[in-house]
Amino acid sequence: MADHNDVLPYLRTIRDLIRWGASRMNQAGLHFGHGTESAIDEAATLVLHALHLPPDLHAEYLQARLTPPEQQAALQLLERRITERKPAAYLTHRAWFMGLPFYVDERVLVPRSPLAELIERHFAPWLPDSRTVERILDLGAGSGCIGIACAYAFPDAQVDLADISAEAMAVAQRNVADHGLEDQVEIIQSDLFSALKGRRYDLIISNPPYVSLSELDALPAEYHHEPRLGLAAGEEGLDIVLDILREAADYLKRDGLLIVEVGDAQYALCEALPDVPFTWLEFERGGQGVFLLNAAQVRRL
Ligand SMILES: C[S@@+](CC[C@H](N)C(=O)[O-])C[C@H]1O[C@@H](n2cnc3c(N)ncnc32)[C@H](O)[C@@H]1O
Repeated sequence: MADHNDVLPYLRTIRDLIRWGASRMNQAGLHFGHGTESAIDEAATLVLHALHLPPDLHAEYLQARLTPPEQQAALQLLERRITERKPAAYLTHRAWFMGLPFYVDERVLVPRSPLAELIERHFAPWLPDSRTVERILDLGAGSGCIGIACAYAFPDAQVDLADISAEAMAVAQRNVADHGLEDQVEIIQSDLFSALKGRRYDLIISNPPYVSLSELDALPAEYHHEPRLGLAAGEEGLDIVLDILREAADYLKRDGLLIVEVGDAQYALCEALPDVPFTWLEFERGGQGVFLLNAAQVRRL
């Protein structure tokens, strides 16, 4: 670790460390897109984690002074963020989705899907009566954040988390246990729907890989710590979503809904399937590239 002795006298409070860390991160040209949107938020996440303090610490404590070991612990994390270019969530092993905490490491993507907003409002207005939902599938579940958030939003529904990656499923298993949801959430290793034969869902929700090959190479260093299997989806970013569309009809109930995030692959998808009546959803807190189809529309594909 670099020697910071010359600056330590200026880093007396929590506020000092957050400000200094943010300045160093901006100077180093880091990218923020894994749960925080600015250097200040990223530095606050790391400093508060190092001090074992909650991420929503009341502002009055920012003036609290730090002991030398606390200064060192926070500096060490800030330094790792800058030199290793890892998203903060991989350094703290903590990410937030729909206000819920999740364990994460480099076996899974850092949760950041706009789908959280949709789950929070029980898919209104698309789902007329959330009480009728009995079975939900989170396809390409990674850490399990989407399916686990659904389990909270629909406490009477059974939720399946499916992912091709055994490593990701181990992380999802840990999160299911941390949330005490073993009775409500099942984990199934599956290449798309292959291990789900015979199951029918009211809701299939997916945030599959959708990054095109050219986009993948151009992504900032932070994304290259994430599993390639969670991002890469062929030449146009459509490899996985087209397979989902081909098979989903067999796994949706009569009045079911299919909701899939495809990000910027939205444009390639509309070009590839100009006759499909995708409903593109809007989000108050930002995000785009999420479509919805009802079961009747999926059956007609
Ligand atoms: C974009 S990540 C999303 C993870 C999580 N749902 C989230 O929102 O943070 C996509 C996930 O799809 C999984 N995946 C990739 N190909 C798959 C396939 N053929 N079948 C099932 N899952 C797949 C990856 O392992 C990865 O965990």
